[in-house]
Amino acid sequence: MRVLVLGGTGFLGRHLTRALLASGHEPTLLHRGRTAPELFGELEHLLADRAQGLALPRERRWDAAIDTCGYVPRVVAANARELRARVDRLCFVSSESVYADHSRAGLTEEAPLVELADPATETVTPATYGGLKVLCERAVTEAFPHAHVIVRPGLIVGPHDSQERFPYWVWRLAQGGDVLVPAPASAPCQLIDARDLAAWIVRLLEDGASGAFHASGPADRELTFGELVEACRAPGVDARLVWVDGEFLVAAGLEPWFDLPFWTHLPKLRGLFAIDLARARASGLRTRSPADSARDVRAWLSESGPRRWHGAPTPERDRELLDDWRAWRDRRAAR
Ligand SMILES: NC(=O)c1ccc[n+]([C@@H]2O[C@H](COP(=O)([O-])OP(=O)(O)OC[C@H]3O[C@@H](n4cnc5c(N)ncnc54)[C@H](OP(=O)(O)O)[C@@H]3O)[C@@H](O)[C@H]2O)c1
Repeated sequence: MRVLVLGGTGFLGRHLTRALLASGHEPTLLHRGRTAPELFGELEHLLADRAQGLALPRERRWDAAIDTCGYVPRVVAANARELRARVDRLCFVSSESVYADHSRAGLTEEAPLVELADPATETVTPATYGGLKVLCERAVTEAFPHAHVIVRPGLIVGPHDSQERFPYWVWRLAQGGDVLVPAPASAPCQLIDARDLAAWIVRLLEDGASGAFHASGPADRELTFGELVEACRAPGVDARLVWVDGEFLVAAGLEPWFDLPFWTHLPKLRGLFAIDLARARASGLRTRSPADSARDVRAWLSESGPRRWHGAPTPERDRELLDDWRAWRDRRAAR
């Protein structure tokens, strides 16, 4: 297949480009030339800011396009209309954030979607991200009513991750010592390695799939947060996990999800990592183990140098919080 990738050099995009090449397809990359422009020198790059239009060369056609970087519905809609005459199918990378209610486990792809408080907004924030993706999905579906694939990933992990969530735990376990982890260890957990997601998107296009699909894992079993953290252990490093009550952490001023990655303490987040993956599994999704992702992220972090973890506690702050927590726990036990 000849495939036009909007993006193609970012986190997911670079893995997608590699997966297309590995399966013998011909990717063309469209981007502004800002993110890792040195990548894929052997491929055709079309330089354009999608917000100003795709400026596609005359007469060019592709079998499919994959939109990895759509956030603003007006822009996604205009691009999709432009693509209608140029590609047979359009795959849009959306998000599991599209749902109205994440408090329940087992959400399927048919669950009610979130509505933006202000449907005219184009500002992407944690509060508007899901609602904007809903409108982007709608625009893609309208432009390609019979030839769209909507992929809704959960947390994407792997080398070149642009977020700090999974890399934080990989880095923190590699520091060793007492590591503060938010209880309970039994909380459900889901994630997908960008390389597995990329290979599966290529497969969906090859198989002519259509409709919406959750994209998370593991594909072959259920995972707990405790198992995820264990999988992040660095060989030869003595890290002792100290499971701390969420109630204490909230009282200490930490914000669930934002201050400790993967921490779904709030009732409204309880179903976030318990999304129904039946459709993805049935359509051939395969996932590697979290330990394999952690190993490769550790290697990437050691090459890419020191990081600042926004929000998450430093090892020094971890120590202070653990001292306070032990005192809090002892006071509670003495009552
Ligand atoms: N990370 C997660 O955990 C997660 C979870 C769920 C869903 N998702 C979704 O996964 C997708 C991929 O995320 P990502 O972080 O890999 O990608 P990203 O950072 O959104 O996209 C980066 C790519 O898009 C290009 N790009 C950005 N703005 C552009 C513009 N105006 N015109 C043309 N090209 C542009 C960049 O190249 P230039 O800068 O050179 O233009 C680069 O190739 C996103 O749609 C995201 O919403 C992510």
